[in-house]
Amino acid sequence: MSSVMPFAAPPVAFERLHGNASLFAALGFPRLAPVLNDLAAPWIAVGAWSGETPVGLALGQMQGERGCLLSLSVTPAMRRRGIGCGLVRAWEEAARAEGASSLTTGYSNRLPARAALAATLASAGWSAPRLEQISVIGETGPMVEAVAQWSSVARSLRDPGSFTFEPWRTPDAADIAALAALAAEPDYIPQMHPDEGSAPIEEACSIAVRRDDQLLGWVIGERTDRIPLDGYRDRPAIHYRSAYLARSLWHTGLLVTAYWHAYARQAEAFGPDSIAFFFTCVPRMMALTQRRFAPIALRVDESFFSFKGVLPDSGRN
Ligand SMILES: CC(C)(COP(=O)(O)OP(=O)(O)OC[C@H]1O[C@@H](n2cnc3c(N)ncnc32)[C@H](O)[C@@H]1OP(=O)(O)O)[C@@H](O)C(=O)NCCC(=O)NCCS
Repeated sequence: MSSVMPFAAPPVAFERLHGNASLFAALGFPRLAPVLNDLAAPWIAVGAWSGETPVGLALGQMQGERGCLLSLSVTPAMRRRGIGCGLVRAWEEAARAEGASSLTTGYSNRLPARAALAATLASAGWSAPRLEQISVIGETGPMVEAVAQWSSVARSLRDPGSFTFEPWRTPDAADIAALAALAAEPDYIPQMHPDEGSAPIEEACSIAVRRDDQLLGWVIGERTDRIPLDGYRDRPAIHYRSAYLARSLWHTGLLVTAYWHAYARQAEAFGPDSIAFFFTCVPRMMALTQRRFAPIALRVDESFFSFKGVLPDSGRN
């Protein structure tokens, strides 16, 4: 199926791509180029042709009933002529033909064409971008020093009251019951669970928050060699993959104190110039991160999310 747009010259045609579409490999993210060698489900691609020349590509994937647009690009000389918008619309049609009831896309604040992408999606009727996730990457030593000066953290370091910040240990029966109760709290999401990760828990810097030995929260890290920052990839690094604190203790600064303990232990175990990073999608934590962590981090990245159609309640990822 293809449709032709009435441009002066040459006309631009949109075509659903199948099989070998490697002619379009120079368009879009290089890491997705291999997908174009043999396009098949769950991938959905639409190409824009100007005569015999590929000039644009929309590439994405079906994930359940959701069509996820992963890459959209128009060759620079052909921008601002409606091709990007036409690609999005043709890609939508293809995704709906595959059963998509909703369409989503995500992108980083570091994307140079972010304004163009947001405008293109808006013009195709997608939602305004909303902040979905923030990631923070930093050197442990300087962050430990800076965070210890924050008044709420300084207070709870001076006087932790009945709270303890201990190395994480394999949950016993009481911990398992506590975990189940915490997991039933309203804003808990499964990704916050201590076991939710791809690598083993790093015991040197994973923390349990307890009161009278009862488990109330945690900060869990794992070793990683995938440091998302050029110039720092040879450092030891910990990805703090999950963290949670009982809802009744939110807004007390206790979770930040728990992170401080984890980072302090990391600095001790792996050195102050070792790298730590974490992600958050909790709105208040994102606001705190932008306000307080951004000035002391090496980098803070924001991920935006836009959609069209009805999203299931279960989330935006
Ligand atoms: C994003 C991109 C695909 C847009 O393609 P395009 O063909 O220029 O887009 P269109 O001409 O269809 O423009 C669609 C709308 O966006 C607006 N727009 C496009 N580029 C814009 C820009 N740089 N700034 C502001 N608005 C812009 C257009 O004015 C138009 O709005 P309108 O419908 O209200 O008139 C293109 O800029 C691109 O390839 N960028 C680089 C690749 C990239 O980073 N892609 C995103 C991640 S994969």
